[in-house]
Amino acid sequence: MNILRFEDLVAQGKAAGQRVFIRADLNVPQDDAGNITEDTRIRASVPAIELALKAGAAVMVTSHLGRPTEGEFKPEDSLAPVAKRLGELLGREVKLVSNWVDGVSVNAGEVVLLENCRLNKGEKKNNEELARKMAALCDIFVNDAFGTAHRAEGTTYGIAQFAKIACAGPLLSAEIDAISKALEAPKRPLVAIVAGSKVSTKLTILQSLSKNVDGLIVGGGIANTFMLAAGLKIGKSLAEPDLLGEATAVIAAMKARGAEVPIPEDVVVAKTFAADAPATIKAATDVADDDLILDIGPKTAAKLAAQLKAAGTVVWNGPMGVFEFEAFSHGTETVARAIADSAAFSIAGGGDTLAAIAKYGIDKDVGYISTGGGAFLEVLEGKTLPAFEILSKRAAG
Ligand code: 3PG
Repeated sequence: MNILRFEDLVAQGKAAGQRVFIRADLNVPQDDAGNITEDTRIRASVPAIELALKAGAAVMVTSHLGRPTEGEFKPEDSLAPVAKRLGELLGREVKLVSNWVDGVSVNAGEVVLLENCRLNKGEKKNNEELARKMAALCDIFVNDAFGTAHRAEGTTYGIAQFAKIACAGPLLSAEIDAISKALEAPKRPLVAIVAGSKVSTKLTILQSLSKNVDGLIVGGGIANTFMLAAGLKIGKSLAEPDLLGEATAVIAAMKARGAEVPIPEDVVVAKTFAADAPATIKAATDVADDDLILDIGPKTAAKLAAQLKAAGTVVWNGPMGVFEFEAFSHGTETVARAIADSAAFSIAGGGDTLAAIAKYGIDKDVGYISTGGGAFLEVLEGKTLPAFEILSKRAAG
């Protein structure tokens, strides 16, 4: 994708003394007391800020936090805890600035955090007047918010239309590069794992990937619906029988291209959904009426592991079973370790997938871990994200 990159502008000396506005995604989870419980996104925003500071820019950073009502400030919507954490990571104080749309005072070599951008009226609907005002605050707009790249809002789209220069920060650039490597020009075979509880939430992803991938591995409740489509009984397992037609069509689309959706040949079942429920391994043809399928079985896991190890590229979204419960975690663990051991370039994204990567300590062995939730899923659906679209439009002149 042809976009301007902030790293290149810095290397060309174009950021020195400039007012740089960075849109980051600092939308991090907090507990009831407002403590940040997971700070990956804040850590991921640091390289862009440090790059701008080292280049001698006057740096403004903003992000949304949650989904506040525009124009109505509530303390829980404040980026104050994020400012504190960012300050710790940067090793300098990060001042939080409220009511910033009409002007920000910041010197070259300094960084300020602009309060939750979704508090500004017009942000969500990408109001042009707001976008123009924000664009006037800076000489260079840097979008580094991959997690919000699927939203066409004031700070992700409008400001990029009107800023003198609009470019991608290092995080957004890295995400774009990893996605292109995995989906546009993949080393084959390209194997995708699409797992999770419901086909309905990932149907468009399954349909889109079925046109491109060489292997489409399904897991979780999604696999149950595919087992039903393959004529297997699934007892009282979670599934969506009304989507059998769609599942059958995905299997047929893959077959027509000489590719396949592997259907589990064995499963791990229980009689109740509980961490201490006795787990039984069964052939996929032996599932009883009162069984709940909670994981893939060891034969299936070994077969998938071999397929993943032989892949050229792996795209991973979703766990294979209820991996939070020890007895039903082995399918996900086997698949995770196979991805880690594989020479394939791998890209992973989504909350549960990141939790599985953390649980098995394989973060260093995955090619790229996306910071996007909804944005990553929309990429898998084959959509062009608005943030990418406007940056490439601007780069084209
Ligand atoms: C996310 O957490 O997925 C992003 O920050 C986007 O948030 P949103 O769904 O509120 O736009």
